[in-house]
Amino acid sequence: MVRTAGLEPAWAIAREILSLLCIPIPPRPLICGNYVSASFGARVSPRLAQGGTIAAMTHAATKKAATDTDAQAPVFDGAFRARLEDLIKWRRDVRRFITREVDDALVDELLGLAALAPSVGNSQPWRFVKVRDEDRRQRIIENFEACNADALADYNGEKAKLYATLKLSGMRDAPVHLAVFCDATTLVGYGVGQKTMPETLPYSVVGALGTLWLAARAHGIGMGWVSIINPEVVSGILDVPGDWSLIAYLCLGYPEEEHIDPELQRFGWQDRIDVSDFVLER
Ligand SMILES: Cc1cc2nc3c(=O)[nH]c(=O)nc-3n(C[C@H](O)[C@H](O)[C@H](O)COP(=O)(O)O)c2cc1C
Repeated sequence: MVRTAGLEPAWAIAREILSLLCIPIPPRPLICGNYVSASFGARVSPRLAQGGTIAAMTHAATKKAATDTDAQAPVFDGAFRARLEDLIKWRRDVRRFITREVDDALVDELLGLAALAPSVGNSQPWRFVKVRDEDRRQRIIENFEACNADALADYNGEKAKLYATLKLSGMRDAPVHLAVFCDATTLVGYGVGQKTMPETLPYSVVGALGTLWLAARAHGIGMGWVSIINPEVVSGILDVPGDWSLIAYLCLGYPEEEHIDPELQRFGWQDRIDVSDFVLER
């Protein structure tokens, strides 16, 4: 069963005709009010054209990988595995950035790699918004500061004192702000795998963020995930379609310093726990 929520009648009719003629059905244009996403090459509403841009989701890296069907499967040898282990161990949540800009082409390359992540039914429900507008950034930072103050009020005593010292966002310094959404109404993938677990759509977006985190680190770019924000407020500030849900607000940039241990461990908030404590057998 394919989701039809939010489907416009014309699109529904077009789909019916295509399916009767056995013609493959392309992804539905992302329709919300007067807005049709630029990602499918369609018209962009004046609202979005003035206020911001949405990243085109057809990046060179994705296109190349998607069409490169003759490529030979590489052999991943021990040396590669050792480097991969280094990459995994040295990925960090980064909140301290130097002022150096990140080339936009590199950001697109990283998004292209993130979009090679698995997704339920190959639904690719990730939607990336490059937040460039200074006013929108500022309002999102203010929302973070309000939410962070609110979160601090949940702690008492020593924990409250320690919380107040933590740096929980690099939004003021990060050259790149990226908001990542899940489009839960996408028809891409025809609903495969979602019937009993619709939450696999947002899981797919989160999976892509793991890939993005590692790809960024491999290019020397630090990424920080900020969740101390109100998702409805941020979605409103970014003026995105109402059926997109915010998965992550990300800061990217060149890190001030490199560490092998998490910042929250270094600052005495929470140590890593050996994974064997979290493995069960049945
Ligand atoms: C879903 C999610 C939300 C997070 N939100 C925040 C946040 O709001 N602020 C922050 O400083 N770090 C945030 N982090 C980063 C974690 O604090 C960090 O991953 C954890 O402390 C382990 O550190 P490491 O990523 O460097 O290994 C978030 C991470 C995840 C996966």
